[in-house]
Amino acid sequence: MNYYYITGTSRGIGKAFAEHLLENPTNYVIGMSRQCSIEHPNYRHFYLDLTDVNAVTDFKFELHAHPEKVYLINNAGSLGFIKPIGKLEPFTIIKNYTLNLIAPSLLTNAFIKTYNTTDAEKVIVNISSGAARTPIDGWALYCSSKAGLDMFSRVVDAEQKVRADHPLENIHKGFRIFSIAPGVVDTTMQEEIRSASKEDFSRLEDFIAYNTNHQLGNPKTISEKYFRLLSKINAINEVSIAIKDYD
Ligand SMILES: NC(=O)c1ccc[n+]([C@@H]2O[C@H](COP(=O)([O-])OP(=O)(O)OC[C@H]3O[C@@H](n4cnc5c(N)ncnc54)[C@H](OP(=O)(O)O)[C@@H]3O)[C@@H](O)[C@H]2O)c1
Repeated sequence: MNYYYITGTSRGIGKAFAEHLLENPTNYVIGMSRQCSIEHPNYRHFYLDLTDVNAVTDFKFELHAHPEKVYLINNAGSLGFIKPIGKLEPFTIIKNYTLNLIAPSLLTNAFIKTYNTTDAEKVIVNISSGAARTPIDGWALYCSSKAGLDMFSRVVDAEQKVRADHPLENIHKGFRIFSIAPGVVDTTMQEEIRSASKEDFSRLEDFIAYNTNHQLGNPKTISEKYFRLLSKINAINEVSIAIKDYD
């Protein structure tokens, strides 16, 4: 069996990932978010608020009997409040970094610790954003946490490459890690962007236009692209990538 731990499976891209995987009976999905919207015999849900660091550190990855693949997909993320720095509440800043960067770091650490000696294809996929590379006003926490997630992934990859059992030579020993940006996708996150105030977000009209001009990707199509790419894992040479570059 293949085991996929995915954060943010209640809607959007994370839900599309889970639904795509559940079409194959050899996949088992463990989802984590505050709400659950999937019912399937091969799906188990953990009600988890990823801004609660104690709850995240309490989460335990399981030791599965003879897994073929074990994946952690750090998908859950949020823009938080779209406002310039100077207009945010301190707690908002702490919560947003916790969701977007601290929780994925904690989960990745626990994942590697748990499966270090497991013989399987072991992969961590972080869901990044083009915002990791482009400063967007009103999105300081989002841009910087996604940039942090990219660098975190590159460092973990570098650490895996100095292991004696280099994952590119023997994927069943070491871990592969990727930070993959999906492009603009038609989810609640985009609705939230379109509801930002013009005063706090200069690019509001651009994001309204992505929707009216039908430029937003479909979560199902995007998720299929991710798994098409991940099915050729040894052909991916970079850590921090955009899915559009692999279409
Ligand atoms: N949509 C885009 O255009 C776009 C572009 C670039 C990158 N991304 C990235 O893609 C990923 C998925 O985004 P999306 O567009 O699918 O967003 P979405 O539709 O808003 O879904 C976000 C998911 O994250 C979960 N989540 C949010 N806060 C959480 C919390 N405190 N604890 C646990 N889970 C939480 C939500 O579940 P609950 O509310 O049930 O907890 C939900 O399942 C994010 O990392 C986002 O940054 C999206």
